[in-house]
Amino acid sequence: MLPASPFKLLSLCVLGLTLSACSNQVDPNSPEGQRQAAFKQILGHSEPLGGMLLGRVAFDGEAFAAHTEGLVELIDAPWAHFPEPGESNQRNASRPEIWSDPEGFAAAIDAYKSAVNELAAVTREGVDSLDQVRQPLTVVQQVCKACHDDYRR
Ligand code: HEC
Repeated sequence: MLPASPFKLLSLCVLGLTLSACSNQVDPNSPEGQRQAAFKQILGHSEPLGGMLLGRVAFDGEAFAAHTEGLVELIDAPWAHFPEPGESNQRNASRPEIWSDPEGFAAAIDAYKSAVNELAAVTREGVDSLDQVRQPLTVVQQVCKACHDDYRR
C-alpha cells in the first residue's frame, strides 16, 4: 500500500474541517451555545425530579431536595445569553417573540423563578413524601412548558 501523500492528507483535513463546519455544531462560546448548555444543565435536575413525580425513579427526599437546589443555583443561568440575534447563524430554537415581546419573555422568566423558589421553600422544610412536593413541582413543569410553547420553536 502506498503511503498517503501529504497532499492527500491535507485535503482530507480540509474536508474534515469543512464537514465539521457544515454539521451545524453550535459554537459553545456563542450566546446560543451558552444558553443551550445552561438549559441542558437545568434539564439534568428537572428530569430526575419529573421521574420521581411519575414514579419512574424511586422517590428519595434527599435527592429531590438536592436537585431542587440545583435548579435554584441555575435559576439565572440562561437569561443573560439572549442578546439580539444580529448576524448570528448558530443553530437555535428561540422564537423572534423573545425580542419582539421582551415584557412577555421577562414575565415568563419571573414565573419560572417564582415557581422554582416556591418549590425550594417547600423542600427546605424537609421532604419525606411525594405528596408534599407534587403541586409545586407540577407548577415548575407548567412554567417550563408555557415558556417553550410561546418562545421556543
Ligand atoms: C422563560 C422561558 C423558558 C423557561 C422558563 C424554560 N425554558 Fe427551556 N428553553 C427556552 C428557549 C427560548 C429555548 C431555546 C434556546 C435556543 O436554542 O435558542 C429553550 C431550550 C431548552 C432546551 C434545549 C437546549 C438545547 O440543547 O438546545 C431544554 C432541554 C430546555 N429548554 C429545558 C427546560 C426546562 C427543563 C425548563 C424548566 C425546568 C425550561 N427549559 C424552562 C425557554 C425557556
